[in-house]
Amino acid sequence: MERLARQVMLILGLLSWGGSLWGAQDSTEVSSQPDRQPGEGIYQAHCAECHGPSGHGDGPRAALLAPRPGNLVSAATSTKTDEELLAIISRGVPRTAMRGWEGELSDAEQRKVLAYIRSLVHFQAPTQTPSPP
Ligand code: HEC
Repeated sequence: MERLARQVMLILGLLSWGGSLWGAQDSTEVSSQPDRQPGEGIYQAHCAECHGPSGHGDGPRAALLAPRPGNLVSAATSTKTDEELLAIISRGVPRTAMRGWEGELSDAEQRKVLAYIRSLVHFQAPTQTPSPP
């Protein structure tokens, strides 16, 4: 029982921490940190609210959108070329909440944010050959 209470407290704590981090309009805490990757600051400032902090399409605004923002770590996105994704980032996706960013982000910034999205995908080769059926 006491353990359950502790877990509930932990979850509540995480929720309010997440809420204050992503809910607040000025994400100074996030953007003032040095970029681990070029483009991370841009991503966290402009894209994470929908696409989620690590690109899984689970940002705080995602649940309110139809269609929901894509999982950028998915095969569907990863297999698109840089040109295709840059065109989407600059012009947006028609009839979705994904607007074009060309007025707001320079070409260089769009490339940086794309590089950051690519860096979120961690390809892992299977360590073992699966046994034959
Ligand atoms: C208001 C919510 C919202 C914001 C903010 C947003 N997106 Fe999107 N994004 C979407 C939605 C909705 C889609 C369309 C669904 C889809 O294609 O997965 C989308 C699609 C995309 C796609 C296409 C994925 C694919 O495989 O076709 C890319 C790339 C993308 N967004 C990148 C970004 C980047 C980079 C930013 C920040 C500069 C950003 N988005 C900001 C909602 C958002």
